[in-house]
Amino acid sequence: MSTTHGTGHGPATAGASDFDAEDPSLTRFDLVREGARRDGVEIVHYEPQFPVRGTKLEKRIERSIAFLLTLSGLFGVAFVVAYIWWPSRYSQGPTASKLYTPLLGLFLGGALLLLGFAIITWAKKLMPNEVAVQERHDGASPRDEQQLTGSTILNMVDEIGIKRRPLLKAALLLPAGGLGIAAAAPLVGSLIKNPNDGHILLTTGWNPANNGGNRIRLVRDDGTPIRPEEVSVGGQMTVFPGIPGGATNTYADSPTLLIHLRESDAQVLRDSIARSQVLQDNLPVVAGMWQNFVAYSKICTHAGCPASLYEQQTNRLLCPCHQSQFLITNQAKPIFGPAHRKLPMLPLDLENGVLVAKSDFLEPIGPTYWERPI
Ligand code: FES
Repeated sequence: MSTTHGTGHGPATAGASDFDAEDPSLTRFDLVREGARRDGVEIVHYEPQFPVRGTKLEKRIERSIAFLLTLSGLFGVAFVVAYIWWPSRYSQGPTASKLYTPLLGLFLGGALLLLGFAIITWAKKLMPNEVAVQERHDGASPRDEQQLTGSTILNMVDEIGIKRRPLLKAALLLPAGGLGIAAAAPLVGSLIKNPNDGHILLTTGWNPANNGGNRIRLVRDDGTPIRPEEVSVGGQMTVFPGIPGGATNTYADSPTLLIHLRESDAQVLRDSIARSQVLQDNLPVVAGMWQNFVAYSKICTHAGCPASLYEQQTNRLLCPCHQSQFLITNQAKPIFGPAHRKLPMLPLDLENGVLVAKSDFLEPIGPTYWERPI
């Protein structure tokens, strides 16, 4: 009777009661078969794929698997390299940053796919063919059955052939290492490099740093500044930061709705702000208005659509995407729809006869995100 590597395994001893697992004449496969039988599993067919070891075909299959594993490892390493070094910051035009996400997907997907192919090839081409019928049972196994199970596991390790296939053993380290590093990279990477470095989500085009530290004018999309008398009472207009490219996608977070409120509505807003001031002292929004002018970010706080449908009679600002409504005279707090935060207010002032932003928005614009400061 041969071991797991041989053919023609003889019949196992008849009953569990007279089976002696310590019997030195038994092969490991006898123990395996007996263990399976006691578990209600009958091995009805068992045939190694390569009864004669080291044939050319076996070696060729080993090399194929080693190749797949090596390639998988290289893809994992490529993922980490791209994750760290490929330019990821968005820039306009056909730049390398456009390939950042596709490359990550390609490398990680390729690594997993190649590893899967290698495992399937190994199982199909190198592992013995076996047909077993198993019955289910309840409860814990006795001590000797645990011993039998241990033998079964050792037998499986032998069948996989990892011990006697040093090439595959070495090749396995590559995908294990590459994929392991790929899995750890996003976690460790955020510890090494702060993704919010530079406060990219906290600043917009209105940041005076974009204008040499000076306050930024409110301008139309053609770059012309805005005098208060040019906005009729009850009127509104979309304004952009008066800096180079201020009305382009480079500053897509900056479009702002400037509204010239009627006197009575402006007073309601001032009262609302005053109440907030009482409730939340030093709330930055108190400095937001200039006379009867107020300016709110157009980026909806729900999912980022432009909230720009201004309903003058009710003083509501509507977002067309999911119908959120913001009450202009109550600091643009949401009164309907899925948005749950008010639209940030841009602090206004007058300088040389034209409207300017006193500073950037005093809270992050757009949808809520995890690290958003309160
Ligand atoms: Fe404005 Fe959804 S994006 S309501």
